Order: sequence, then C-alpha cells, then structure tokens
Amino acid sequence: MEIPGDPVRTTIVLVRKESFATIQLNRPESLNALNNQLMSELASCLEMLDGDSSVRCIVITGSEKSFAAGADIKEMADAGTIEMLNRDGFRFWERIRRIKKPIIAAVGGFALGGGCELAMTCDMVVASETAKFGQPEINLGVMPGAGGTQRLARTIGKYRAMEMVLTGQTIGAEEAYRRGLVNRLVPVELLLEEAENLAREIASRPPDAVRLAKESVLNSFELPLSEGLAVERKNFYMLFSGEDQKEGMKAFVEKRKPGWKDNQ
Ligand code: CAA
Repeated sequence: MEIPGDPVRTTIVLVRKESFATIQLNRPESLNALNNQLMSELASCLEMLDGDSSVRCIVITGSEKSFAAGADIKEMADAGTIEMLNRDGFRFWERIRRIKKPIIAAVGGFALGGGCELAMTCDMVVASETAKFGQPEINLGVMPGAGGTQRLARTIGKYRAMEMVLTGQTIGAEEAYRRGLVNRLVPVELLLEEAENLAREIASRPPDAVRLAKESVLNSFELPLSEGLAVERKNFYMLFSGEDQKEGMKAFVEKRKPGWKDNQ
C-alpha cells in the first residue's frame, strides 16, 4: 500500500505491511542494474522508513531472475575518473550503511557486483535456491567498489573471496549458505514469504533493543574488540532506562509474554 504524499518512485516499489516494509527493486529491463536513479530512490526510501516508527524492519528484494545484476554498466561505460568522482555514486551506499533499522535482503537469481554488495550491506540475507552471488567486475576491467572486497572477505574468508574477486566466478546459493553469506536458503516460491516472516519476527521484538543490538553487531566490523565491547556494554546499560527492559524482565519473572511499549 502506498501512502498519500509518498514521492513518486520509478525504479523501486514500496509495500508497507503491518509492522515492516518491503522494497522491490524494479528495473526488470536491466535485471535491476543499480543506476543512479535507483540508488537515489532506494537511499531516500530507506531513510524515510528509518524515521517511521510504525516500520520495525525492512526487506529489500528484486525479481525471481535477478536481485540486482550490479551497478549499471551502461551508465558508467564512458565516464572518466573525474566524472565518476563528481557523480559520487557511493554517497547513496553511505546513506544505506547508516540506516538504523534491520534490513533483510531477499535474494532470488543474480546478486552480482553491486547486487552482491547491496545484499552484503543488508543485515541478513534470505536466498532462493536459484540465487547466484559474485563479484564479476574483474571481467569489466575494474574491481568491486561498493564494499565487495571488504565484506566478502570478512564474511566468507580471505581465500574464497580472493578467488571470487580475482576470477569473477559466481557461487551458487548452496555454497553461499554453507559459507555464511546467507541466513536462510529456501525454494524460490517461498523466498519473499520466508524473508517477510523473519522481518515480522524481528519487528515483534522491542525496537530500542533491536536498534542498539544492530549497532553493536555492526561495530564488530568497525572497531577493535576492546572498543566494540565498551560500546556494547554502554548500549546494554542504556536499555535499562527504557520501559521494555522493565517489562521484559518482569514478564519473565511473572511467567507471561511481554507487552512491548510500542506493540500495545
Ligand atoms: N548494467 C546494465 N545493464 C545490465 C546489467 C548491468 N549490470 N546487467 C544486465 N543488464 C542488461 C543487459 O545489457 C540486457 O539489456 P538489453 O536487453 O538491452 O541487451 C538485459 O539487462 C538482460 O541481460 P542479459 O541479456 O545479459 O541477460 P542474461 O540472462 O543473458 O545474463 C547476466 C545475465 C549474467 C547477469 C548478465 O546480464 C551480466 O553478466 N550482467 C552484468 C553483471 C556484472 O558484470 N555486474 C557488475 C557490474 S559493475 C559493479 O557492480 C561495480 C560495483 O562494484 C559497484
């Protein structure tokens, strides 16, 4: 359901569900290549949902054939370095990286180049058995630029990541699942349902705790252990100033289900 006043979007479709929202990438003619317009609409839409307290979790999906086939090659084929710098396409990626609510990628078909990087920028990945992940930029005379070398290596390990980045070979959903790039592997017809079930489950948890927990897990990629532990501890203490901690612990002691403040 689109809300009156929502901006017109041409490359993505936003569907709001009861407690979460699903964004579908919608450039089927190019297998959801991530052009400037799409990245701009996606970043703006995610920021809008991040500020909407009725939305607790966000799913990003594509089509059955393609989650996203990478950055739009046609858009950058003729560009020079200065033009690429001036376009500053990565600013959209930085905005997406700063979203505080959990984001789940529901990946069917191709997740290549920027498509694989977008999935890895999300917090969890649900994939269909037909999903294919890869960083094929080397075959275009370039290399990953939206986090592929860093997030892939940190997720599946240096050696397999190196092979994928240097050869451009893709891996199937089964291997991606085995190597920890995918949370849940499901038949193609269940992809969105499974991702949305996970979103619904996370959306039912206390939102302040979810936000601070996401921040803390992401810090494990950014900070040395001692600093990450310090922030984790601070976030843990901080939650004792909220109603949900009182309710959650009281409900446990009273042997009943907690009623979170924003779920009533
Ligand atoms: N950019 C622009 N257009 C793309 C595209 C892309 N990344 N991927 C696919 N398309 C277009 C094709 O040009 C084609 O358009 P036309 O019908 O106008 O010719 C249409 O989508 C359908 O694609 P194919 O005919 O190629 O479909 P296929 O099923 O035969 O092959 C594919 C599918 C293997 C995904 C193939 O399209 C492909 O290799 N795409 C490019 C993948 C890639 O190299 N991605 C990395 C991009 S660079 C990047 O992402 C940099 C970064 O780090 C940010």
